[in-house]
Amino acid sequence: MIKFSAPGKIHLLGEHAVVYGKPALLAAIDLRATVTIESQTGHLSGKEYLRKIIEPIVKKSLSIKKIPPYKLTIASQIPTGSGLGSSAAISTAYIAALLSFLKVEWDLSLINDLTYKAEEVFHGNPSGGDNSTIVFGGLIWFRKESPELKIIHPIDFSIPPQLSKNFILINTGTPKESTKEMVEKVKKLNDRNPKVVNRFLEDQEVLVRELLSVIKDGNENRLIQIIKAGEENLESIGVVSPYVTSVIRKIEKAGGAAKICGAGGKTKATGILLAYHPKKATLEKVAELNNLPCFNTSLGVEGIRIEK
Ligand code: MEV
Repeated sequence: MIKFSAPGKIHLLGEHAVVYGKPALLAAIDLRATVTIESQTGHLSGKEYLRKIIEPIVKKSLSIKKIPPYKLTIASQIPTGSGLGSSAAISTAYIAALLSFLKVEWDLSLINDLTYKAEEVFHGNPSGGDNSTIVFGGLIWFRKESPELKIIHPIDFSIPPQLSKNFILINTGTPKESTKEMVEKVKKLNDRNPKVVNRFLEDQEVLVRELLSVIKDGNENRLIQIIKAGEENLESIGVVSPYVTSVIRKIEKAGGAAKICGAGGKTKATGILLAYHPKKATLEKVAELNNLPCFNTSLGVEGIRIEK
């Protein structure tokens, strides 16, 4: 039996802008997807949709025609379609398990390249930031210079405990729109009104760069201002629904800040919000008053790993 797990991810900041070659700062979170592969003869059980995406990618990469029959089991703590990289985490763990099952020597770069190919099938034009964070883990500075060159830089410090203890994730629900649709929506806006998108890209780059030094120094006031400004920029390109915008305004009014942390949504739900407040209980209160589940998370956990 071969078992691998991979974490979910959040964007501390830089989602959408990262598709256009701007930097993003991401963190692996302590919700994991676990994939088990066992050799099996006879009837193959389930997960055909996923097998049909992953197997051709692995076969092509290894130049093999057949994969011996196996049983595939998936267990995931990561809510799907919520901006936490659920599909990339499952693909990552599945690919690592499949390569191990085939007794192929692999390294993290190979797993990352193959997961990116799976993400292309799921999302059309992914930046590669989600899968890189999930594979390598920790805090990642990511930038897609060109389709061939992606800077995946592990950050060699962690978020200081006095800040990291005050983040929570609030679940606004599964967006009606897929990541692919939201990325296409921004592309259409860029075709129609490049000025708006350019301003977004420039502002977000400045904020992402500053965020890096702010989380190193532990400057709480500036952290709150950056999350607020980053969220406002995301709103300017239409990826945050009016409903979620109103929840975020309530968090800000209470002295905190919150932002979407994936592709967002335009109708109602936008997936997970990353929220910060000097007194975390205030965030829990706002979430409760709005009937939204919330949970604590560790930011910057281990990437893909083998499980016993
Ligand atoms: C999705 O988690 C993040 C986006 O920036 C898309 C991508 O990076 O591929 C919206």
